[in-house]
Amino acid sequence: MTEHIKIEKSDGVLTLTMARPDKKNALTNAMYGALADAIQAAETDSSVRVLLIRGEGDMFTAGNDVGEFAAIATGAVQGERHVGRFLQSLAHSSRPLVAAVQGRAVGIGTTMLLHCDLVVLAENALLSTPFVNLALVPEASSSILMPLRIGYARAFEMFALGEPVDAKSAFTWGLANRVVPLDKLDAEARAFASRLAKQPAGAVSTTKRLMRNPEVLMAQIKVESEQFAARLKTAEAREAFVAFAERRPPDFLKLAAS
Ligand code: COA
Repeated sequence: MTEHIKIEKSDGVLTLTMARPDKKNALTNAMYGALADAIQAAETDSSVRVLLIRGEGDMFTAGNDVGEFAAIATGAVQGERHVGRFLQSLAHSSRPLVAAVQGRAVGIGTTMLLHCDLVVLAENALLSTPFVNLALVPEASSSILMPLRIGYARAFEMFALGEPVDAKSAFTWGLANRVVPLDKLDAEARAFASRLAKQPAGAVSTTKRLMRNPEVLMAQIKVESEQFAARLKTAEAREAFVAFAERRPPDFLKLAAS
């Protein structure tokens, strides 16, 4: 358990809040574990009809904790990694997932939205997938979901350059259902979730299952994870993590193209 994930249930909606605002809700292994546990438990809880994912503070999440990436790369952390279980729970969730996003959604903060069924963005939302900037590769089956959703040209640019996409573009490209003023975000997302919770749950989950195939998603997640794990150990990644820790831009030009 971690205090950085808050879980609350009311009127058929299970709300999962990433609550580590001093670190911009950067996701730790413990946080992935708590999210995975909650999403998995919801599968057998007949009182949960919809899941709502949100972040506390000024941003949705700054993505995976970069310090933990660095620790994995050097072999400094041992034990079970929960991120795989989190991705699996997202891909397999039969409950509809709603997301409420303010400020930045970095890395897995954006790729998890591809697994959500309704996404509400605040006007200040900025979505980015800077895996390559960290010398890594896309995950969470985003390497197929993102180009499917927004087309190859936009997806490749998002992945390869890592620049943020604003709420208006994200909406236009089909990454979100609504863009609302920041002060209306929680109310709008909750209203969306409550409407969904009142629909016939069996028909909603079967519709979702017809539209999303967990086996295909999990097969891609496996391929991506192998590449991701290999990239974590490269000199490129070392340079990226050291640069992050030293608060300086990385210098990849000193490393040969391979
Ligand atoms: N992992 C670990 N710590 C993180 C983090 C992350 N992904 N993102 C932010 N933090 C920490 C910062 O190190 C800082 O900690 P400190 O107060 O102890 O120094 C704190 O959160 C606040 O972050 P800061 O960078 O000062 O906030 P900002 O508003 O200026 O910038 C971001 C926010 C998200 C743009 C910036 O923090 C960032 O680029 N983070 C890295 C994102 C990333 O690469 N994620 C992985 C994607 S695959």
